[in-house]
Amino acid sequence: MLSAFFWLGCSKPSQEHEKKPVAEARLSQVELVEKGHRLHRQLNCGSCHSTTGVSLVGPAVNDIYGTEVTLIDRARVVRDEEYMKLAITDPARHLVAGFGNTMPAYRLDDGSVDALVAYIRSLTRQEASPHLPSMPHVGNE
Ligand code: HEC
Repeated sequence: MLSAFFWLGCSKPSQEHEKKPVAEARLSQVELVEKGHRLHRQLNCGSCHSTTGVSLVGPAVNDIYGTEVTLIDRARVVRDEEYMKLAITDPARHLVAGFGNTMPAYRLDDGSVDALVAYIRSLTRQEASPHLPSMPHVGNE
């Protein structure tokens, strides 16, 4: 009885949290994606990664979030958020098959990594990753 009371007491704030106004949530997502877009240009990620499906030195980064990829050891993995973070901060940990180990490891603060991941996610169309909730789109370059 007592534990049920605590459980109810604890679950309420998280429910309220989920009911955050949609406009507020949207705005911060747009800002995050915009920041990622900016970083992608500033850090010159585009010199190795197109956002239009064309392979350069590295794979294109559009339409990849949430989809499967084959790694150099033939493992098939889903490119989820953790995968993306590691791909940026410690690329040698899992190398995409068919590409060289040429990407530098980026030492970035968590906010910048999150922004880059959000940007890459925003480049993924619903057709490519049907289970992914859609993200604001700010541009492809
Ligand atoms: C010198 C070229 C180069 C630069 C600059 C570079 N990358 Fe890469 N990147 C690669 C290569 C090559 C791979 C494939 C091998 C691997 O998995 O590391 C890759 C892989 C990736 C992957 C995984 C792609 C996939 O298909 O799973 C992501 C995500 C990524 N890079 C993001 C970035 C971001 C963000 C930046 C800028 C902060 C960046 N890269 C800068 C060369 C580069």
